Amino acid sequence: MKNTVLTFAKAKEEGTKLTMLTAYDYSTAKLINDSGINSILVGDSLGNVMLGYEDTISVTMEDMIHHAKAVAKGAPDALVVVDMPFMSYQTSVYDAVVNAGRLMKEGRANAVKLEGGTTVAPAIKAIVDAGIPVCAHIGLTPQSINAFGGNRVQGKSEAAAKQLIEDALAVEAAGAFAVVIEAVPKKLADLITKKLSIPTIGIGAGEGCDGQVLVYQDMLGMFSDFTPKFVKRFANVGEVMRAAFKQYDEEVKNGSFPAVEHTYAIDDDIIEKLY
Ligand code: KIV
Repeated sequence: MKNTVLTFAKAKEEGTKLTMLTAYDYSTAKLINDSGINSILVGDSLGNVMLGYEDTISVTMEDMIHHAKAVAKGAPDALVVVDMPFMSYQTSVYDAVVNAGRLMKEGRANAVKLEGGTTVAPAIKAIVDAGIPVCAHIGLTPQSINAFGGNRVQGKSEAAAKQLIEDALAVEAAGAFAVVIEAVPKKLADLITKKLSIPTIGIGAGEGCDGQVLVYQDMLGMFSDFTPKFVKRFANVGEVMRAAFKQYDEEVKNGSFPAVEHTYAIDDDIIEKLY
């Protein structure tokens, strides 16, 4: 059954946990969808894990639409949330609505996600008013990496913690159906989760959040450029892939692949006539 914003609201009400994983292509989306994960995030982390950029700054609307379309085809049940890339919503509320609309119409998103708190609340409200569900994202917001001076835990000081609470309340008041909280001390995320009536989706924010999200290459051990403290490796798929690639290389070079069962037959009398 399709997960919707109502699934998220019900989970918060009933205290059941929500799951979200990133995906950027059809095949992975199908695997995640079929595992019963509630939501797939087409994150702008695709800049890091799919395109090899050092951050998410260069990711474009075209990149997001291209990957969102593929994921949407493979995710009939999971709620597909698509990230709004850097500068697709910060420039004006008008741009925010137009670009959110493109992710829905062209990317076939079920919802969009954008980074920020009080400052982006007017954009969230306008997008929600246009009939587009919005997931907010506060705490460590990777599009602001240059303003933060690096990827660092957020909300540690009293002032920063108060600001994060204000941000959370602002995005809720603006109509967000959920909020991702990234790299925030567990006790602060717990407090925000208690204060909000919308679900909190944690990444590096402890188990007290209403749900969790991870980048799938991180949790499968497929990406090693950098690994944040909050990542748990659930499998070492990167090692399995490396071993398989190595074996393929060896078998092709020593002639053991392809074997007879991987080839197509033709009648010998036809072949003989061709010599
Ligand atoms: O882009 C992304 O993958 C994200 C998650 C880390 C929450 O925003």
